[in-house]
Amino acid sequence: MAPRNASPVPHLTSLYHFESTGGFGSRSYPGNCGGLLIRDLLLYFKAARVLDPMSGSGTCGQVCRSLGIPFKSGDIHRGFDATDPASYRYLRGRFDFVWAHPPYWRQKIYADDPRDLSRAPTLDAFLDRYAAFISASAAVLSSGGHFAILMGDYTDRQIGFVPLTFHTKRFAYHAGLVSACTDIIRFSHGNSSSSKVYQSSFIPGLHDVCMIFRKPHKHRPPNTRPHRSPTHGDRTHGR
Ligand SMILES: C[S@@+](CC[C@H](N)C(=O)[O-])C[C@H]1O[C@@H](n2cnc3c(N)ncnc32)[C@H](O)[C@@H]1O
Repeated sequence: MAPRNASPVPHLTSLYHFESTGGFGSRSYPGNCGGLLIRDLLLYFKAARVLDPMSGSGTCGQVCRSLGIPFKSGDIHRGFDATDPASYRYLRGRFDFVWAHPPYWRQKIYADDPRDLSRAPTLDAFLDRYAAFISASAAVLSSGGHFAILMGDYTDRQIGFVPLTFHTKRFAYHAGLVSACTDIIRFSHGNSSSSKVYQSSFIPGLHDVCMIFRKPHKHRPPNTRPHRSPTHGDRTHGR
């Protein structure tokens, strides 16, 4: 049971488990994520202009169209490299909401283009370009705008466990963003791995994490006068 509150989307909680895609996007597209979570976030944050820089089958765009929200999108399949700040020049203007569902490194390979993030040859190369992507997308976000990233931790056959959600937060903070609210744990439905039988022992990961960041408003110049209590004066000695 979630506490009642004034949210315009009361069913949006830190646990998300809709099996339906809402009819948005294409289930057959590798890594497709369904549109209901995107719709709920856009409604909750009252998004006015949206960017999806890794749009895949166009789920986010379809949600925006259904809500009448202006949006732009790009994908490496259409020549848009989200890790390159130069790509964003043609988008014109800022966005108050960015939705992104990037590759989980090489868990799935998406495009023949060598700039496809899933084709990064090493984990370090992936992380460098993933950080560049977060920073480039954060740069086109308006102050006070929100950046939602859907990401999952991933166990690589050679490297082992790769905590991509940890790295996401690290890079987002480095790009000047801050966490806006709770993480949203999205239950996975219909994973191809669910029906397989493995000889090895492991704890199956059955969720992704949607992390929502905010671009803080520019700070006013810091107040250089030290705070003094009008009644007690400067009584910090002895502490
Ligand atoms: C997990 S899929 C996104 C799926 C999408 N959310 C949907 O519902 O269909 C990741 C997408 O990132 C794209 N991609 C990979 N590297 C990219 C890059 N450097 N720039 C832009 N898009 C990239 C892939 O082509 C793929 O479509």
